[in-house]
Amino acid sequence: MDSTRRGRSKERSIEQGADDVTTPQFSAGEPPSPRSEGEMFDAGRFDIRGRFAGARDTPAPEAAEPGDPVVAAVPEPDERDAPEVDVPELDGADSDGPEPAAASEPAAGEPVIGPTGRPLRDIPEPAPLSSHGPARIIAMCNQKGGVGKTTSTINLGASLAEYGRRVLLVDLDPQGALSAGLGVAHHDLELTVHNLLVGSDVSVDDVLLRTRVDGMDLLPSNIDLSAAEIQLVTEVGREQTLGRVLYPVLDRYDYVLVDCQPSLGLLSVNALACADSVVIPMECEFFSLRGLALLNDTVDKVKARLNPKLELGGIVVTMFDARTLHAREVMARVVEVFGDLVYDTVVNRTVRFPETSVAGEPITTWAPKSVGAESYRALAREVIHRSGR
Ligand SMILES: Nc1ncnc2c1ncn2[C@@H]1O[C@H](COP(=O)(O)OP(=O)(O)OP(=O)(O)O)[C@@H](O)[C@H]1O
Ligand SMILES: [Mg+2]
Repeated sequence: MDSTRRGRSKERSIEQGADDVTTPQFSAGEPPSPRSEGEMFDAGRFDIRGRFAGARDTPAPEAAEPGDPVVAAVPEPDERDAPEVDVPELDGADSDGPEPAAASEPAAGEPVIGPTGRPLRDIPEPAPLSSHGPARIIAMCNQKGGVGKTTSTINLGASLAEYGRRVLLVDLDPQGALSAGLGVAHHDLELTVHNLLVGSDVSVDDVLLRTRVDGMDLLPSNIDLSAAEIQLVTEVGREQTLGRVLYPVLDRYDYVLVDCQPSLGLLSVNALACADSVVIPMECEFFSLRGLALLNDTVDKVKARLNPKLELGGIVVTMFDARTLHAREVMARVVEVFGDLVYDTVVNRTVRFPETSVAGEPITTWAPKSVGAESYRALAREVIHRSGR
């Protein structure tokens, strides 16, 4: 791994970071209202029983193409930008219903309908920045596991860096998947985010690693971090520990992306307590709706009690498979409830992403011309447009 320690640079004052509040440029009109669990589960609006019963009557799914990989092997470099292969379902059980209508070219003047079912918004190319900081902190959060938080953190970060933004990624998950996904041998690290949170004489620069992506740095973690939740319990201001740690370096970066663990425990609350916004990666499946309602409650509580500037930045749908009726129905429900907060960018399910984890680099460098890389660039454009920097 070619990450290297970065030298110390000047610290910035807390006062400089205190006014780091920006207004999103999207006006969603009235904020989407009903987000309680009961409303998300309104059976009249999302007919679960009918759907699952209906699924038994649907035609058998298409068989996987001969040679489709079930376990991804890492391809040779010249194969990386080859047409992407959807990950086949092992039993094909969730491939139901008719395929979505093939996208026909819209007539001149008609809006293009995106995968969310809404007209695509016009997002301009990000303007180059002439100066950097103070950083906008984004918590990548969803207490549901395996929904694409880490994948989105790595690839959104790398895409923001491609647009000339300076990015710091914070691995706030003791699994260390963010660090591993960037090729860091995290098990062997002596200094990690854990030392920052519980050790008084460790500075961010002692822990900071450069990544292979120009302009993107990493605060790595490993299993040591699992002790932090217990160690922090007796601390005064325990929920603000991460915010205190990050303050000195905020003026060096334009974005700090915090990869949260799949829980709403003290570490995730620390991320929410210092964040300007929370971005929720989600998979389009029924139980994700229940998770969104719970997460939304937590965001509201943290906003009311700890961090008034916290806002819901957006929801990014990952691992989307438009061939399944279930995914399309859940998408429709999420758009109905959260409106414009759902990013137009939808990341499709593709075997390229598991490959990048093995390769230890973002998809934007591993397969720069792939659809997955383009999706995260499009997400980066939306994030920049919404945050105005
Ligand atoms: N668009 C995608 N298509 C196919 N596979 C994907 C996609 N996005 C992520 N994955 C894969 O799904 C798995 C889970 O993704 P990831 O680790 O990003 O989720 P997570 O929410 O961070 O998980 P955890 O809750 O455990 O931290 C990984 O193996 C990843 O490679
Ligand atoms: Mg993760």
